[in-house]
Amino acid sequence: MTSDPNQPAAEVTDPKPTRHPAPPEVPEAPRPRRRPRYSGRNPRRFEERYKEHDPTRYASDAAKIEASGKTLAGSHRPILVEEILGVLAPKPGETAVDCTLGYGGHARRLLERVTAGDAPGRLLGLDVDPIEFPRTESRLRALGFGDTAFVARRSNYAGMAKVLGELGWGTADVILADLGVSSMQLDDPQRGFTYKQDGPLDLRMNPQRSPSAAQWIATVREADLEAALQSGADEPHAALLARGLVRARDTEPITRTRQLAGLIRGLLPERSKEDQDLSVRRVFQAIRIVVNDEFGGLDAWLRLLPGCLGPGGRVAVLTFHSGEDRRVKQAFRVGLDQGIYSSIADEVIRADPEEQRSNPRSSSAKLRWAVRAAENSGELRVES
Ligand SMILES: C[S@@+](CC[C@H](N)C(=O)[O-])C[C@H]1O[C@@H](n2cnc3c(N)ncnc32)[C@H](O)[C@@H]1O
Repeated sequence: MTSDPNQPAAEVTDPKPTRHPAPPEVPEAPRPRRRPRYSGRNPRRFEERYKEHDPTRYASDAAKIEASGKTLAGSHRPILVEEILGVLAPKPGETAVDCTLGYGGHARRLLERVTAGDAPGRLLGLDVDPIEFPRTESRLRALGFGDTAFVARRSNYAGMAKVLGELGWGTADVILADLGVSSMQLDDPQRGFTYKQDGPLDLRMNPQRSPSAAQWIATVREADLEAALQSGADEPHAALLARGLVRARDTEPITRTRQLAGLIRGLLPERSKEDQDLSVRRVFQAIRIVVNDEFGGLDAWLRLLPGCLGPGGRVAVLTFHSGEDRRVKQAFRVGLDQGIYSSIADEVIRADPEEQRSNPRSSSAKLRWAVRAAENSGELRVES
């Protein structure tokens, strides 16, 4: 048989039967990740509450959970929103600062007001939390707040004047500080704020800054621990707990949240379970305040606040315990006496029973406000 020179050469076939070559390996498609199993009808652990972490997809479940007075895992419900908008009275075109951006609930409402009708209003959002901050910034951007209207800076609010200066904004018309921790921080056991589930004893809003609560408690002197429990939480058993915790840590390092809670309960054997739980809450609060230098930051912020408010500018502060409220109340009083503020809240504003029922975290909130005098009469001098 001759071959046609115009055709490609026919393949030379092997007359012997051969085994088929193995098919090329196809990479297996990744299996969809299984949701972790949990016991009971509803997930209890923070990380297992998949519906709450995705409220857009599970809108009706999320609505039911919120209606029952719970905050969705991984979110935060802003407190006293209408009351804050009432005292701050943000107007289209104004400049606002939210010193504690958190989940962005208050910031969103302020932004809606200052940018209403395409007004060139703007808001600076500050927060120290490196984990939640980028999530909140993306959430607000997704709502349509661009770079001109919304500037986000990860900073301690004690640096507010510096940031306003760097931005060339000078002063603000409206300033809000919603103190303390967010629900996202409180609820996530890995951040160490909760003792309801076990986790590392951390308690830092900014985990990039040392010391953690475990590191602090490892070396604190008994007298300093007692003072912290008194100043941060008015703990009635401060001396006894400080002595007991220092002895306990000398036997075994205190590194877990449940371990600390158990030690505190064990040191108060005569007390009721309710009393023990109250002490556990107060000790965690007091340690959190020290580890995050909350009073130092608040004192610094209150001193620089008048210089950040334009004439007639309004400030609102939400506090959650007496140590914070005392400081805000005193600074506003002194500012009024010195003519720095033209008016201040006579009484604190509190959440009404309906809000307290639907959001129990609002129960301890106290709102105070002040208005900057039109004339600038110098720096605020608060005796500490
Ligand atoms: C109660 S939450 C604010 C919630 C927010 N208003 C909302 O509507 O979602 C308090 C926030 O303040 C932040 N924070 C606490 N101390 C701070 C400080 N000194 N400087 C900046 N942010 C601080 C915390 O990280 C937390 O995110």
